[in-house]
This record gives sequence, C-alpha cells and structure tokens, in this order.
Amino acid sequence: MKDYKRTLVTSALPYANGPIHLGHLAGVYVPSDIYTRYQRLRGKDIIHVCGSDEHGVPITLKARNEGVSPQAIVDRYHAINKKAFEDFGIAFDIYSRTSNKMHYETASTFFRKLYDDGKFIEKSTDQYFDTESNTFLADRYITGTCPHCSNPEAYGDQCEQCGTSLSPSDLINPTSRLSGSKPVLKETKHWYLPLDKYEPWLKQWILEEHKEWKPNVYGQCKSWIDQGLQPRAVSRDLNWGVPVPVENAEGKVLYVWFDAPIGYISATRELTDKWEKYWKDEDTRMIHFIGKDNIVFHCIIFPAMLKAEGSYILPDNVPANEFLNLESDKISTSRNWAVWLHEYLEDFPGKQDVLRYVLCANAPEAKDNDFTWKDFQNRNNNELVAILGNFVNRTLVLTNKYYDGAVPARGQLNETDKNVLSETAKIVESVEKSLESFRFREAVKLAMDLARLGNKYLAETEPWKVIKTDPVRVETILNISLQITAGLSILLEPFLPFSMKKLRDYIGLGAAEWELLRSEEILKPGHKTGKPGLLFDKVEDEAIQVQLDKLKNSKAKASNEAALTPQKEEVSFDDFTKMDIRTATILEAEKVPKTKKLIKMLVDTGIDQRTIVSGIAEYYDPAVLPGQKVCVLVNLAPRKIMGIVSQGMILLSENSDGQLFFVEPGKTAHNGAEVN
Ligand code: MF3
Ligand code: ZN
Repeated sequence: MKDYKRTLVTSALPYANGPIHLGHLAGVYVPSDIYTRYQRLRGKDIIHVCGSDEHGVPITLKARNEGVSPQAIVDRYHAINKKAFEDFGIAFDIYSRTSNKMHYETASTFFRKLYDDGKFIEKSTDQYFDTESNTFLADRYITGTCPHCSNPEAYGDQCEQCGTSLSPSDLINPTSRLSGSKPVLKETKHWYLPLDKYEPWLKQWILEEHKEWKPNVYGQCKSWIDQGLQPRAVSRDLNWGVPVPVENAEGKVLYVWFDAPIGYISATRELTDKWEKYWKDEDTRMIHFIGKDNIVFHCIIFPAMLKAEGSYILPDNVPANEFLNLESDKISTSRNWAVWLHEYLEDFPGKQDVLRYVLCANAPEAKDNDFTWKDFQNRNNNELVAILGNFVNRTLVLTNKYYDGAVPARGQLNETDKNVLSETAKIVESVEKSLESFRFREAVKLAMDLARLGNKYLAETEPWKVIKTDPVRVETILNISLQITAGLSILLEPFLPFSMKKLRDYIGLGAAEWELLRSEEILKPGHKTGKPGLLFDKVEDEAIQVQLDKLKNSKAKASNEAALTPQKEEVSFDDFTKMDIRTATILEAEKVPKTKKLIKMLVDTGIDQRTIVSGIAEYYDPAVLPGQKVCVLVNLAPRKIMGIVSQGMILLSENSDGQLFFVEPGKTAHNGAEVN
C-alpha cells in the first residue's frame, strides 16, 4: 500500500428520523471507532467525521404524521443520536448535520460546479402530481394496489407485502398519501448524473485497481457494473432539502443521496479550515465505513460525483459490513424489534464496553450475523470477567499484597518468562495486521489472547505458592504480569476505551501510546500502581430474562398490529343508518350437530323471537349462553347455514389471542333498544 500522510475516516450519516440501535453500532460505528482510536494511538494524523443525514422523504413523512415541521424531527433525533454516540465512546472529531448552513453552501457549490461544467443531463418525465396539495409526489407518497400480489397498500417504490420494488406507474389505483386524492401525471424536469459515462472508468478503478476491497463490497460493485449503469436523477420535487442552485428550479431540491455524502465534506470544513488537505491531497487516505445497503452510493455514485467535480480524492477503501440480526430476526424499527442504545444504558449502566465488545467479537463482517442476549451474557461472564478481569485482578491484588503496589524489579529470566515476552510481541503484531485490514473480529480475539496468555503464565508460575519458598522469583513473575497488564490497557484501548482507561488509572499509566507496546518494560521498577477495582462484573440470568421478555412483548404487539386489516372503504351516514342493530337476549342455545364451530340460538330481539346461527362454539359453551345480552344486526337478509335459516347476526369482536367474544350492550339496555 501507498505511504499516506494522513487518513480521513467517514462513518455513514444516520438518518435523523429515529434513534440508533445496536445494528447501526455493530455495522458501522464500532468498527470505525476502533480503527480511528488505533491509528490515533499510533500517533497518525487521522480525523473521523460523521453527522446526521437530515433530508429525504421519510423525514418529511414522519413530520407530517406528527404534525410538526421536518426541522423539529431532525432536531430531536440529531440530539438523541449525538448523545448516544458520545455515551458509547464513539469518538468522532465532529458530529455535524446536513441541515446546517455550511452544508447547504458546500452541497450547492458542488452541484453548481457540475452544472456549470455540463456534467448533468436534463430530462423531463411525467410524474404523479397531487392537484389538491399542489405538489409532485415522491414515490413514498403514493399508495395503490400492487400489480403482483394485489396488496392494496403498496407504496410507489415498493410493495412491502411481496417485496417487489415498484415504480409509481406500476400501481393500480394510485392514491396520494397527502390528500387521499387521485394524482395526475404531469411533466417535470430533473438533472441526471449520466453514470453510464463513468462506467468504463468505474470498471477500471474498482474492478481492476481495488481487488483488495472486501469480497462483499467488491461483489456488489461488480454486479452493479455488470448490469450496466443508467443516468440517475439527482434532484427531486420536494420542499425539504437543499434547493437546486440554478435558475427556474423552484420547488426542486437535491436528491438526499446527492447531498448526504457531501455532508462528509461539509463536516470536515466545519471541523477545520485545513479541510482541503483531507479532501484534495492525494496523500490522504479516505475510508468510508458503512452498512451494506449503502455500498452502491459510496462505491459508485459518490465516486462518480467526486470524479465529475474533479478536485477531490476518491475513497481508498470501503469496508462495509453486512447486517446484524437480533435473536434470529431482522432488526426492525416499526416492529420495535431492536435494542435502542439509550434503553441499553438504562438497563446496563456503565456497561458500554460490554456491548462494544460483543458487537465487535460477533460483528457481521463477512455475512449477516445474529446478536443474542445469551451470547452477550456468555461473552461478558466467560471472557471479559473470567479471562481479562480475572488476570488483571489477580496481578494487581498480588502486587498490592506483596509490594504495597510498587512494581518489583525483574531478576534472571527463565524460559517461561522469555516465551511469554516473545508471545506478547507476536500478539501485538498480529493485532496490528488484523486492524490494518479491517478484520476487527479477529483483532479483538487476538488481543484477548494476551489476557489468556497472562492467565496461563500465572497458572504455570504460581506466584502465590512460590512466595513462600522463593520470594525473589516472584518479583520477576509479577514484573512480567504487570507488563502484560499494561500492554492490555493499550492493546484493548480501541475496543474497550472505558475499561482500559480505568485500568490505566489502576496501574498509574497516563495516556496510552501504541509505541509503548514495543517496550520491554512499560512499567518501570518502583513505579507505584494505584488502587485496583473490578473492571467487569457478572451479568446474571435475571438481567438477560428482562431483555428477552422485552423482545417477547414487542413480538406480541407487532403480531397483533400486523393482523389488523386495513380500514374499509368509506360509507355514507345513510349507509350506516340502514343497518338495524338491536340489543337482544339469548334464550336457548345448542350446538349444531356435525359442526365444530356452530351454535344455534333462540334470541329475543324485542321485536320477535328468532333463530340465529353463529360460529362461536370454540369460545362459548351453549350451556352458559341463555341470559347473555348481545347486539344483533336484525335486518340482515336471512341465510341458510347447515340447513337452518339464520335470521340476523350477532356482533362479535376478537381478543389478542384471536378468540371471539360478544360485543355486549350496557347492562340496563332493554331488548329491542337500537344500537347506533
Ligand atoms: N442516511 C443513510 C442511511 O442511513 C446513510 C447516508 S451516508 C452518506 O442509510 F454518505 F450519505 F452520508
Ligand atoms: Zn405486492
């Protein structure tokens, strides 16, 4: 690899329309933070920029649903997410946002340059327009019937029932979600980036010159390029976003995926007036950390934009991760199938590092992966507590006990000692290699090997026994154990920043520096360590059960909601008053022979006594029915059911277990009283 002078790390800007959850953390921000912290420890010139992505249709939809402005929505989630990142130690140099002035200016200038240089093509197409609200409709603003599965609630861009991606013109009976009216097609002009023109260059740049990209990233790029690239619209008819900075473009804004990645540039500008050296100097190495759904935007579209602009560098690597599932199910905001970061911290205060550790150890690097609470507990109890915490604790307790906390000097080193020291150096080297190639799972496992090595060393040398026969030998053993402890406090710093800071306080080591790892003696003889405490403690079964119960509740709730049928077509008041519903009392009831569900009843409707058949045998025993008050639709045309003429219908509702029950009139209602 080229010898770069500095590194620019970007992490995908999360949409400011909801809180971030553990999937975001695992996919993007834990890896980018580990990488940046590691390079900082090495004294490299590196900056890490991120911020909120505050445009796009979902934000305007959410604002509309809540009856507030889009700005109010993004203000809310920008604050929440900024705090969540801080709480988890994701150490951005800046967490900016795309609704601020600097960004508007940067994005407009960028667009204008491409426009002036003739890099866009302009095209007019017919798009749906809502004449009542006087706006063009984004794909998401249109619903209609899916041509594939007849789902009446499909969106203009996708049917969520059958998963097909659609375009608005595919929908049968398109309806505007804004006004409920039928939209009309109207001509509108937009600017397109002709990606097809960049295809030969992209082919060369990615497929030939970046064969080292992760297979999941390279593969997706290849498949996009192989399918042939098309011109892509970079503007939209919307009133939320960066206005298209050309004449006669009222009501048009930059497409969110055009402006958002420029947000990386705006954030850097906001951070430092030396921003150009990070963006326009070939000696800068740019790395984009993202999730797999962002690959095409960061590997194809944004690079094509940068290339078209001409003065910017391109990413050197895009280590995208796959997705994290939660307890074998896709994480979903709408189904509340997620672990929200702020809720985690309420339930596990001070345990940021545990989550960071588990998400890294189990990161979806090469394929989708599953987070389970059981694995979380196991890794905490069997790894952080039993391996790392245990080693450090034993070393510090013995040092306090025998030497009042002062580091003893080494004597003659024997084979075991020499081995441990050379193993340590090997581990450091392998951790570096893994981190440099974005293999964070491997890196954290290797780093933990140092704690394993420490435990093995203590088990072999048994200082607590030897102290009785050869106290001088124990000085060497503890000196070496303390060096391993100090090494861990640096080596694991990128992964476990909170705990390793604590550990360095325990041992009186100031700031961590990677170079110290090459030193034979990080802590010099006579150095006074501080007062040790516990780095980690056990997560009990009860705490895990609380989390599992929470998820179980989400599931129950979601399945109830999913079972709801959509509201039926509108009826007039007259339609409603045609239905004659009366209070009635069941007089007699018996099962209809040879059926599982049917009960035949004699009912007093106030008007008359009549026979009604109803499918309630699974829920009611006929014996308990006489005397039961019910509501009956009395003017329903008679129907023959199993040879019996049923004259009316008893109103029923359903509980959350799917069981039917009577809609009961008030206790004082008399037979024949109208229900309306
Ligand atoms: N907001 C997008 C998402 O959450 C990511 C935007 S990344 C950027 O999928 F490059 F556009 F900023
Ligand atoms: Zn469908």
